Amino acid sequence: MEESLIQIKNAAVSLILEAEDLKTLDEIKLQFLGRSGKLSLAIKDIGKLPKEQRPEIGQLANEVKKVIEETLAQKISNIKYQISNIKKKEIDATAPGIKPNIGHLHPMSQVLYEVVDVFKSLGFKAADGPEIETDYYNFEVLNIPKDHPARDTQQTLYLDTRNSKVTPGEVILRTQTSSMQGRVMKKVKPPLRIIVPGKNFRYEQVDSSHGFEFWQVEGFLVDKNVRLTDLFGTIDYILRQLMGQSIKIKFATTNFPFVEPGVDTYIECTVCKGQGCSFCKMSGWSEIMPAGMIHPNVLKAVRYNPQEVGGFAFAIGLSRLVTLRYQMDDLRLLTNPDLRILEQF
Ligand code: DAH
Repeated sequence: MEESLIQIKNAAVSLILEAEDLKTLDEIKLQFLGRSGKLSLAIKDIGKLPKEQRPEIGQLANEVKKVIEETLAQKISNIKYQISNIKKKEIDATAPGIKPNIGHLHPMSQVLYEVVDVFKSLGFKAADGPEIETDYYNFEVLNIPKDHPARDTQQTLYLDTRNSKVTPGEVILRTQTSSMQGRVMKKVKPPLRIIVPGKNFRYEQVDSSHGFEFWQVEGFLVDKNVRLTDLFGTIDYILRQLMGQSIKIKFATTNFPFVEPGVDTYIECTVCKGQGCSFCKMSGWSEIMPAGMIHPNVLKAVRYNPQEVGGFAFAIGLSRLVTLRYQMDDLRLLTNPDLRILEQF
């Protein structure tokens, strides 16, 4: 009997201390002190004990009851105090506020806005165009006919147009923002200076320097008397504005069907400072901006006269530019939503 009274006391006290609200405390009170509560029943049983044991056990039962009641009372007053405190806080207009978490632009957007600003200072206007594109604007108009080997390098993703009137293969996800050259030039007469920031898609094996979805800023200028040196000067100015005056730049020849001659622009790899690393494939240089003089076939396709006007075109690999600028060795970091990365910019 003595033992079971002590057990009742311990059980009640630990439940009371764990309780977090008044309702639970009410239930505990009923469970132990109610008419058919555990303690009340135990007290009734005292009558069944031999006479000489009754006073001692009776006294113990009274003490247990007292402890339970006091613990309950204490806990009730604690909870009531907390509640009144919370209520007070709710209306304390003078308390300092909780600092809100203020977000900021993604590093890609920050650099993109800068790129757009630099080009605007040279008289370029920004245009926007469709990511779902036709074969015609993505390839044909750019001097890349159906059987051209350059198509192999473009890892094109085709839309499933079965059950529609569209000829299979005609609708694709654009592989290059150069697709906007034809769209703009067919509508606008020269002179023109346009940039097109946008996303492109290719069936690519994803690694530290390739994504299946990537940003470019395409640019093109058409006017009278445009020379290759104008292109060099423009690229040099743009890259020094974006990457710092002291960067090292070099040009090399390359081949894209829509330009002649084609120019590849490299800057010294910022990740390894030209020493050679996995990001620049050990060359010390990073390709950042392919370009060239617009091919006469493209001008003809948009009904411009190559005898009268000429132009240049270029594309900045925006993800590449951002990673090189912040010396990141993996462009997948740019699509990683981990705030610990994003908060560093
Ligand atoms: N559109 C090309 C690509 O994504 C890059 C390019 C090369 C764009 C030369 C140009 C250019 O405007 O002149 O592979």
